[in-house]
Amino acid sequence: MIELRGVKKTYYTEGKETPVLFGIDFKIEEGDYTAIMAPSGTGKSTLLNILGTLDKPTEGKYLFRNRDLTELSDDELSRMRNKSIGFVFQLFNLLGRVSVLENVLLPLLYAETYPKEARERALRLLDMVGLGDRVHFKPNALSGGQQQRVAIARALINEPDLLLADEPTGNLDSMSSEEILQIFDEIHRKGRTIVVVTHERDVALRADKIITMKDGRVFSEERTR
Ligand SMILES: Nc1ncnc2c1ncn2[C@@H]1O[C@H](COP(=O)(O)OP(=O)(O)O)[C@@H](O)[C@H]1O
Ligand SMILES: [Mg+2]
Repeated sequence: MIELRGVKKTYYTEGKETPVLFGIDFKIEEGDYTAIMAPSGTGKSTLLNILGTLDKPTEGKYLFRNRDLTELSDDELSRMRNKSIGFVFQLFNLLGRVSVLENVLLPLLYAETYPKEARERALRLLDMVGLGDRVHFKPNALSGGQQQRVAIARALINEPDLLLADEPTGNLDSMSSEEILQIFDEIHRKGRTIVVVTHERDVALRADKIITMKDGRVFSEERTR
């Protein structure tokens, strides 16, 4: 599904050059559950943003289903992103002023057509993550773990093939983390491709494959089962 070839990333911010990724090569197969593990501050979010087409590599190639994404226009990229990729972030990134249900429907506001069955699908997803009785709550009336479950439902509303998660349990206690990881297991069982970046080995061990990064390069790849 995904292939990175020699991906490098250097930030140029306020006249300062920060090299972060020094040449990343790996493949992710359709349906695989992959964890990318690296210590904090070493480029996990940078890499995930590139995988999610929210940012571009400075050098190298990104192939998504054999299509070279570096050749797409920004419009084509955002259409492809909206259709194919769902995101879950460490800090949930929900809108505080609207309900849980409206948060889940948010990605559809950018879609060209707003399917009639979207509301039904949102309710079904909220049921799946165990929040069927809280759809009219505002996010701040929910625990962190519950907010993250809303974020997962939102990430799935467009039925993406790829789910990307950036330290999804980084701000949660161990019980809530376990609930989130169980939901990921279930999503994976239903056939979705998942990529999680994390610095925690026990989170990474839930995946089928762990890609460990060191100094902005791939250090090792291992199968967990
Ligand atoms: N927009 C940016 N401009 C400049 N430097 C950045 C930017 N985003 C991230 N960095 C730097 O890139 C490095 C890696 O950051 P990040 O990808 O967020 O790491 P991680 O997610 O592993 O903690 C850090 O040194 C960070 O300061
Ligand atoms: Mg990060």
